Amino acid sequence: MSGEHQVDLTAMRREYIKGGLRRNDLTSEPLALFEHWLKQACEAQLSDPTAMCVATVDETGQPYQRIVLLKHFDQHGLVFYTNLGSRKAQQLKHNNKVSLHFPWYPLERQVCFLGVAEKLSPLEVLKYFHSRPKDSQIAAWASHQSSRISTRGILEGKFLELKQKFKNGEVPLPSFWGGFRVKFHSVEFWQGGANRLHDRFLYQKEGLGWNIERLAP
Ligand SMILES: Cc1cc2nc3c(=O)[nH]c(=O)nc-3n(C[C@H](O)[C@H](O)[C@H](O)COP(=O)(O)O)c2cc1C
Repeated sequence: MSGEHQVDLTAMRREYIKGGLRRNDLTSEPLALFEHWLKQACEAQLSDPTAMCVATVDETGQPYQRIVLLKHFDQHGLVFYTNLGSRKAQQLKHNNKVSLHFPWYPLERQVCFLGVAEKLSPLEVLKYFHSRPKDSQIAAWASHQSSRISTRGILEGKFLELKQKFKNGEVPLPSFWGGFRVKFHSVEFWQGGANRLHDRFLYQKEGLGWNIERLAP
């Protein structure tokens, strides 16, 4: 694209005006604040408020990122579901360190978690799998996520074939489908501020509690 038609990226900026995040707003542990912000993201009707970017690295240290949906969280960690043969799952086998990122632009906020991913128990996966719409369960069977396919038709053909196969009964859990719980040790909250004086607070696990520090924006 020639420069003439290009969007002028250098001029794209906006002020962050939604208000700050102060020490007094913080909770003693990060999950309560995360829950509060997630609730506000849902109430604000952001699209995909539970979408989070998951970063993993391959054996060479090359980072990869992709969006997955947060399906559960508590003090034990943040849970997402995926294909266990996928690229991300392969990378996690080798290196289970992950970073999670929630970008909530309309609220001028982001939250980043650092932690390690652990595979969920089959029982936990089974419970969630059967709560999904039947077509999603069938799609899990049809797609060997992250493998190379030559045409979309192959995928659609497989889906129809499996729909027929499972039309009268329950869809069993594929052995190659599961999920991960990210046990976190670091959480950073970012709230945009006027004049680029944003607020950042970093929670880091320290013994049984959390150390909280303000970071420069
Ligand atoms: C909004 C959105 C939600 C998604 N949710 C999931 C999810 O919950 N689980 C999943 O495996 N992939 C999800 N994906 C697809 C992933 O981003 C990714 O393409 C897929 O997991 C394969 O990634 P990988 O090859 O790095 O393993 C989602 C994508 C988008 C854009």
